[in-house]
Amino acid sequence: MCGIVGYIGDKNSVPIIIEGLKRLEYRGYDSAGVGILENSHVNVVKKVGKVSILESEMTDRPINSTVGIGHTRWATHGAPTEENAHPHFNNDKTLCLIHNGIIENYSVLKKDLLKKGYEFYSETDTEVLVHLIDSFLKKGNGLLKSVRKALVEVEGTYGIAVISSLEPDKIIAARRGSPLVIGVGNNENFIASDVTALITHTSQVVYLDDNEVVEVYKDKFKAKNIKDEDIIKEVHEVTIALDEISKGGYPHFMLKEIMEQPESITNSMRGRLIQEDGISRLGGIRNQIDRIANSKRIIISACGTSWHAGLVGEYMLEQYTGIPVEVEYASEFRYRNPVINKDDTLIFISQSGETADTLAAMKEAKKKGALILGVCNVVGSSIARESDAGVYIHAGPEIGVASTKAFTSQLIVLALITLLIARRKNLSLVDGQNIIKELESIPGKVQRILELNKEIEKIAEDFVDAKNFLYLGRGYNFPVALEGALKLKEISYIHAEGYPAAEMKHGPIALIDENMPTVFLAPHDSVYDKIVSNIEEVKARKGKIIAIASENDNTIDNLADYSIKIPETIRMLMPVLNVIPLQLLSYHIAVKKGLDVDQPRNLAKSVTVE
Ligand code: G6P
Repeated sequence: MCGIVGYIGDKNSVPIIIEGLKRLEYRGYDSAGVGILENSHVNVVKKVGKVSILESEMTDRPINSTVGIGHTRWATHGAPTEENAHPHFNNDKTLCLIHNGIIENYSVLKKDLLKKGYEFYSETDTEVLVHLIDSFLKKGNGLLKSVRKALVEVEGTYGIAVISSLEPDKIIAARRGSPLVIGVGNNENFIASDVTALITHTSQVVYLDDNEVVEVYKDKFKAKNIKDEDIIKEVHEVTIALDEISKGGYPHFMLKEIMEQPESITNSMRGRLIQEDGISRLGGIRNQIDRIANSKRIIISACGTSWHAGLVGEYMLEQYTGIPVEVEYASEFRYRNPVINKDDTLIFISQSGETADTLAAMKEAKKKGALILGVCNVVGSSIARESDAGVYIHAGPEIGVASTKAFTSQLIVLALITLLIARRKNLSLVDGQNIIKELESIPGKVQRILELNKEIEKIAEDFVDAKNFLYLGRGYNFPVALEGALKLKEISYIHAEGYPAAEMKHGPIALIDENMPTVFLAPHDSVYDKIVSNIEEVKARKGKIIAIASENDNTIDNLADYSIKIPETIRMLMPVLNVIPLQLLSYHIAVKKGLDVDQPRNLAKSVTVE
């Protein structure tokens, strides 16, 4: 949440910052602002709304500044107004600061600063930090020391960038809990919340760790920890191509990401299937596989869509490995003193690898000595770096706020992990080979489902005015029902609930009437007849039925008002296929309602606050 960009070099900083902010807009889009050093002054321009509004404001002014910082905000403390937008000034306007995270003890600090005579112009927690830094500057400390001393007093999380007219040759950046990277260029350096903001300028990056403070000059950077000890940072090479972070001719990132799933799924499996041995090859967990296979229990923890992937993982792991699995919301897990034993394996799933609750749950579990695995998309992200071992999903950058391709790749990776453990345990060679054969057929089957796009768009037309939706599935398809409902509410703002189909009669059935559409996940599997009974129950109450069914199912057409026929696969992989029509349905409903599907209201993609 909140995007940070900074530039120091010989070029005009403003276009570089604006371009970076646009790439980070998925992190928040309530307001945007830049702070630049110009003619020995710090100038700040802020606008409510998207970065494009700030951009038009900036193009009307002649600017020549080679040092600057910029911010796109997802509001936590204070409404999305110009006053609350970042950067924030100190009172004599020699210093400005941008911040991602939450200063938890801000009210105590504020009281103290008010007593000292500081004036506040916003309702944010961030403004406290800029005045606190100023109070150390006033005692004669340099900028770096003042930032460091201020951060010692702060409780909470931050990724910050600070510039000052008193020391115009540097940007100070610091991190605790909110991601920050330095981009190393040729006689120029950058800072950003994530590498996508930098890749048009450099592929050399340095990931900051918690409690690190860095002085970034145009030709060097110096890192220290908060205790003032020098730190040597490693420079990493990132390999993201520009077309991976552009829309590539699609009207929205979300549609592009839905459509590229045959490829992203292939990438998740690439080099990882060994057909002759009926096993997967996962280098990142190879050294831990015996410990995982012998664990007494597996706990999966995540948030949002990644949590839904975790639920599918539970079905997979329990079916094939016999190891008991629990799935926990990271936000609940971290605060309830969970029972974790040394012979447990914990899997943390996160597309961004930065979700605050997931990261905190992981740190909590680590203290208790269990094995910690990360399943992440973003290479070099905090969860990926802090886990004992892990598997990248390699779905490529996901920009649309509603997760699509990351979900299907998470499912694929969970299937690969399951296969690896199961083969270590009791799964036969032939059964392993069959799973691999099915995995290999998945991209082609996904492609066939995507070819139903027009058909699904047509169905969507009839539901633009729906106020509520129900999604029902059983077994492996129960988490898919949850994910379908989440997709719809995230981007179309239609209230939607996912339920295990059998639970319908314990409550949701009371809602069914001719205005209530119900989406049934009804593939040909062992519970097909039971799902058909549930469909009959909804039909008897005049509910509208959309069924996702198997290609060769001819009976469903007599029951459902709309049916979407898709290829079959083994139970374990069904969610990968079944979720695709639900992604497309949500997308088309939202587009027909005229909504901004890539940046839905109130949401953000990388949730780095609790
Ligand atoms: C936010 C995003 C969701 C995502 C969730 C967890 O709510 O909008 O799409 O599923 O965070 O994010 P993570 O990066 O940890 O998978």
